[in-house]
Amino acid sequence: MAVVGIIPFFTFALGTWQMKRLKWKIDLIDELDEKLQLPPLKFPSKINLSVIPEFVFRKVLLKGRWDHAHTMIFSPRVREGVHGVHVITPLVRENGSTILVDRGFVSKENLELLAQNQPEGEVEVLGMIRTSQPRNRFTPDNEPEKGIWYWTDVDAMAQYAGGDEADVQPVYVEQIFEGHAGEAATLLDKGAPIGRAPTVDLRNSHLSYVITWYSLSALTAVMFGRVLMRRKRSPGKKMPRFG
Ligand SMILES: *[C@@H]1O[C@H](CO)[C@@H](O)[C@H](O)[C@H]1NC(C)=O
Ligand SMILES: *[C@@H]1O[C@H](CO)[C@@H](O)[C@H](O)[C@H]1NC(C)=O
Repeated sequence: MAVVGIIPFFTFALGTWQMKRLKWKIDLIDELDEKLQLPPLKFPSKINLSVIPEFVFRKVLLKGRWDHAHTMIFSPRVREGVHGVHVITPLVRENGSTILVDRGFVSKENLELLAQNQPEGEVEVLGMIRTSQPRNRFTPDNEPEKGIWYWTDVDAMAQYAGGDEADVQPVYVEQIFEGHAGEAATLLDKGAPIGRAPTVDLRNSHLSYVITWYSLSALTAVMFGRVLMRRKRSPGKKMPRFG
C-alpha cells in the first residue's frame, strides 16, 4: 500500500525535474538563437580549433574555391518529404586553410545533375558553424573509401579531404539558404544544393515528458484515492490486489 502511495509523489517529482530541464533547454535555444542573429564572422587564415565550441551557431562568411574532387555525399537525407542526399565539399579558402562546407540538399532524382553544378572559381558562402553531430545507435559506420557517409564526423571528413598535409582543418560549416520556396524549387530541379534555413534546430522533447509524468502522477493519485475510499467504506474486505 505504501509503495502504491509513493507513485504519485515519485512521478510528480519526475515531472518537476523535466520542467527544470525544459526551462534549461528553452534558455539554451534562446542563447543560440541570439548568437545566430549576430553579424557574420570572418575566420582567420588559421583557425584556433579550441575556440570553435564557443562559436557554434554563429554565422560566418567564407571566400574560396570548391575542391569538388573531395566532395562527400551523405545519405539518406530528407527535405520537406523529398528523399535525397547532402553534399559536403571542402572549401579552399583564399589565403587560408581548407574547411568543410555542407552545401545542402540534392534530391535523389536529380543527383546525376550534381556534376553540372560544380562551380569553378571563387565563391562567397554564408554559413553557420556547426560541429560533429552525435550519431544514434542505429547509424551505420561511415565508409569513406567507398564514398558512403551517414553522419557528420568532422575529423574523419577533414582527413578524407587531405588532412593536415593539405592544410585542411576539421571545421564544419552549414551553408545558409534564405531564398523563397520558388527559388528552392528551381535549385531542386537543377540538382543544385539547397542550403539550410538559419534556425536553431535542437530537439526539445521535455515538454512531452513533463505532460507524461504529471498526467501519470494525477492518474495514480486518483487511483490511490479510490482505493483508500473503498477501504474506508468496507473495512472488513480485503484490499484489492495490484498487478
Ligand atoms: C587558442 O585559443 C585558446 C583559448 O582562447 C588559447 O589558450 C590558445 O593559446 C590559442 N592557441 C593559439 C595557437 O593561438
Ligand atoms: C589574399 O592575399 C592576396 C595577396 O597577398 C591579397 O591581395 C588578398 O586581398 C588576400 N585576400 C584576403 C581575403 O585576405
